[in-house]
Amino acid sequence: MIVKDAEFICSNTEIDKLPVANLPEYAFIGRSNVGKSSLINAMTGRKGLAKTSQKPGKTQLINHFLINKTWYLVDLPGYGFAQTSKKNRSTWEKFIRAYLINRVNLQCVFVLIDSRLEPQKIDLDFVCWLGEQGIPFQMIFTKADKQSGVKSDQNIAKFRRALKKWFEELPIHFLTSSETKLGCEQVLENIDAINQQ
Ligand code: GTP
Ligand code: MG
Repeated sequence: MIVKDAEFICSNTEIDKLPVANLPEYAFIGRSNVGKSSLINAMTGRKGLAKTSQKPGKTQLINHFLINKTWYLVDLPGYGFAQTSKKNRSTWEKFIRAYLINRVNLQCVFVLIDSRLEPQKIDLDFVCWLGEQGIPFQMIFTKADKQSGVKSDQNIAKFRRALKKWFEELPIHFLTSSETKLGCEQVLENIDAINQQ
């Protein structure tokens, strides 16, 4: 898929104020700093579209981007960000979970996972929660450029193995890098395929 058009629509903290749910929507979620905003920029070829930072906790709102005037890409705040108050964290968690459960046009949630790390409980728990809720998801392993392909593959295999306890069948996954653009085209093609269904 060629991204001809990528437009920032709005940032939100309230479910009622989200754009009308009349187009297919895809959300990026994952731990703070995993590379959600960077991947949105890499996939759309627009460097400053989503705000990125070396410091975790950069994205604080639900951000809607309209792609090719036909579907939404959504940048979500990261989970597991320790440097915020407990109250803040739980308010956010409730909001994000409510969004994921109730958004009727949400076609697929992309869970971003750092390909450099061994399976992390927080990611496994989140994926299991999506499964329990019956929310369609796929996994994207990020920052592939930071280590060897062998190491990424090992971590991905471990992650998938750890999930086998809970899932009869696991969805497909992608390995990406926002630096080299590895995997960006595959994620876009996959979105295109879902849009055509
Ligand atoms: P929050 O908004 O805080 O939840 O973070 P985020 O998941 O949106 O991460 P963001 O895209 O802001 O990236 C965090 C840091 O990781 C930045 O310094 C990025 O430059 C870096 N980064 C993200 N993706 C990649 C990648 O594929 N390769 C490399 N080398 N660095 C990356
Ligand atoms: Mg971000």
